[in-house]
Amino acid sequence: MNYLVLAAGATALVMVATSSFAQQKPQVDAALVDRYVAATFKGASDEWKKRIEQDASQKLCSQYRNELPAGEVQSSLAREKAALKFPADGKVIGDWKKGQQFAQRGTGGQFSDGPSTPKGGNCYACHQLSSAELSYGTMGPSLTEYGKIRKFSAAGAKDAYAKIYNAQALFPCSNMPRFGHNGFLNEQEIMDVVAYLFDPESPVNK
Ligand code: HEC
Repeated sequence: MNYLVLAAGATALVMVATSSFAQQKPQVDAALVDRYVAATFKGASDEWKKRIEQDASQKLCSQYRNELPAGEVQSSLAREKAALKFPADGKVIGDWKKGQQFAQRGTGGQFSDGPSTPKGGNCYACHQLSSAELSYGTMGPSLTEYGKIRKFSAAGAKDAYAKIYNAQALFPCSNMPRFGHNGFLNEQEIMDVVAYLFDPESPVNK
């Protein structure tokens, strides 16, 4: 690059510098990454191995580094929305006290957990939920007064159910786990978490 700069002057300097900067983005060989991930989890159970396979939306997120082009945003949202499953009777609000336990628990479903370890949604790792909580993560937005802000509307509660069921149905390449979609939380458990966000008596809305 130095030779080019000396020979060609200021305009070329900008051009060369720009193209060399663009080249700094590492070109990752997707097949190599797949092989590496598969090798890392070689000893995993069949149930875990299934989780290593990326679905269509995840593949696109990897390909575009979570910044999907406009056309792909629409198709990804449509695909994920089509896979949403709501409770048959339309009721999406369960027991907020049970939901609070899921939201605050970080165990369950990890390599180190046995099958009897209680499941948790680990929501606090990424969100503030109740204003009384001292310790919480900030990767996701604060969810304090979530139901109150949405006037406890039925549509808002349904959106919250959809979000917890499959975050990517509302936000492509979301970093939030897809709790229902991946079979981690069942219908009743998701309803309980929705209640924690939406019940007027829940600490989230106090
Ligand atoms: C690994 C981090 C992570 C975990 C764990 C997580 N979330 Fe999220 N969540 C996010 C991020 C990041 C966003 C913002 C981007 C998006 O909307 O997908 C978000 C968005 C949301 C939203 C939409 C917020 C809005 O403005 O409407 C809701 C509701 C939500 N999360 C609820 C939950 C609940 C309930 C749990 C636990 C069952 C949970 N999240 C667990 C990362 C997380």
